[in-house]
Amino acid sequence: MLDKKYYRNNLDKLKQMSEEVCKDPFLPCFHIYPKAGWLNDPNGLCQVDGTYHIYFQYSPFDENKKDIVWGHISSKDLINFTREEPFIYSDSEFDRDGAYSGSAFVEDDEINFYYTGNVKYEGDYDYINDGREHNTIRVKSKDGVTYDCKELLLTNSDYPANMTKHVRDPKIIYENNFYYMFLGARNKDNEGLVLLYKSSDLKDFSYFMTIESVENFGYMWECPDYFKLNNQEILICCPQGVEKEDFKYQNIYQAGYFPINMDLENKKYKLGDFYELDYGFDFYAPQTFEDEKGRRILIGWMGMPDADYTNPTTKYKWQHCLTIPRELKYDKGKLYQKPISELCKLREDEISLKKGDGCNLKVYEAFSNNISSEFEINLRGDVKLSFQDENLTLNMGESSFGRKIRKVKIENIENIRIYSDKSSLEIFINDGSYVLSTRVYSLDYLLYSKDLDFTIHPLKNITIK
Ligand code: FRU
Repeated sequence: MLDKKYYRNNLDKLKQMSEEVCKDPFLPCFHIYPKAGWLNDPNGLCQVDGTYHIYFQYSPFDENKKDIVWGHISSKDLINFTREEPFIYSDSEFDRDGAYSGSAFVEDDEINFYYTGNVKYEGDYDYINDGREHNTIRVKSKDGVTYDCKELLLTNSDYPANMTKHVRDPKIIYENNFYYMFLGARNKDNEGLVLLYKSSDLKDFSYFMTIESVENFGYMWECPDYFKLNNQEILICCPQGVEKEDFKYQNIYQAGYFPINMDLENKKYKLGDFYELDYGFDFYAPQTFEDEKGRRILIGWMGMPDADYTNPTTKYKWQHCLTIPRELKYDKGKLYQKPISELCKLREDEISLKKGDGCNLKVYEAFSNNISSEFEINLRGDVKLSFQDENLTLNMGESSFGRKIRKVKIENIENIRIYSDKSSLEIFINDGSYVLSTRVYSLDYLLYSKDLDFTIHPLKNITIK
């Protein structure tokens, strides 16, 4: 349990921790990181009256996940940010062990937030079929900063009888005069799936249908998201328990999407193949929202739960950050992720790096176009990105705290855009049809490209007040 009173009474501790955070040479310059402590999933993403609200799973007083509340950062332009007080605390009997992930649904100038209240009993439980509660809770807010009360909408007894206690991460959509809530779940046969609940008033939700794959695809699906882009419906989720393959599913847990044909009126659907959203080491629990410009924007957690690699930032009292916001496009059967155009405002004067040359920059965007050959790039330290025999390899060398190799099968590479921050790399291939996001820890920032020319922009910092 972590309530507002405890948070406010411990601001000195937070200040001391944040002084440590600021000493970290790996502190990001253009990524959102916690003031101090631990961060995981982005939550409740929305834009209301011009203001963007980014909430996130947050454990302010512990750099390892402990008491989870919703942290909050707001912004008018996605370049200048303000840290707000946490928004939802774990302060009621139905969320006392964590205000877990959820989303925002904006209607008539009011934001409806839905999230999972985690409750864990003490005792000898497996915590799968027994020993915990996952409650679906709503709070309504005009300003994204305050709300009146927590409304308990669904408890485990409202979920279908063959569900384990793992049912969480609500996301709401509106279609054909009804609201639908998507929930990630694990059933008693250890199959991951998505449950849909239906409502006509955003408050009373009743079970509607289940979406699952024909063949079992992992034991649990977390953080579902659903939207339509260029006439294609997309179901995002994070399956856990999928077997590793040579070029696929190399992380412990997956984050990806199914193109889906959805016929809600007739409770029918057809799931396409599952595509990973990111092939790097650190990408999980993404969430999307439509902003006031009508863009579908995705932000992910640049982290991976239960991974065997680590982050040396814990020494400085913080851990994890969010990815840069990416605008999604869907075209001819492919989903593209493009860094939002606002990031161009961070660009400093252009530098051109000819093949065979090197440069020493920590924080930059680099672009190479019209690529027609195989290549090898030294990104920093002994971190290498190479392309050979339709095989893109990110080799992290020795300095990345347990991160080793990731491989992607790609027929042809035409362009690469790299966003380098002090301790992260986001690599966008072929206009963002493949992305690799990873944390990286080397203080040798030499970028050396043997085979490709690059156009580089050093990047200014975002501001976080
Ligand atoms: C995903 C997740 C969610 C859950 C949250 C708890 O990373 O496990 O399913 O709501 O994190 O922090």
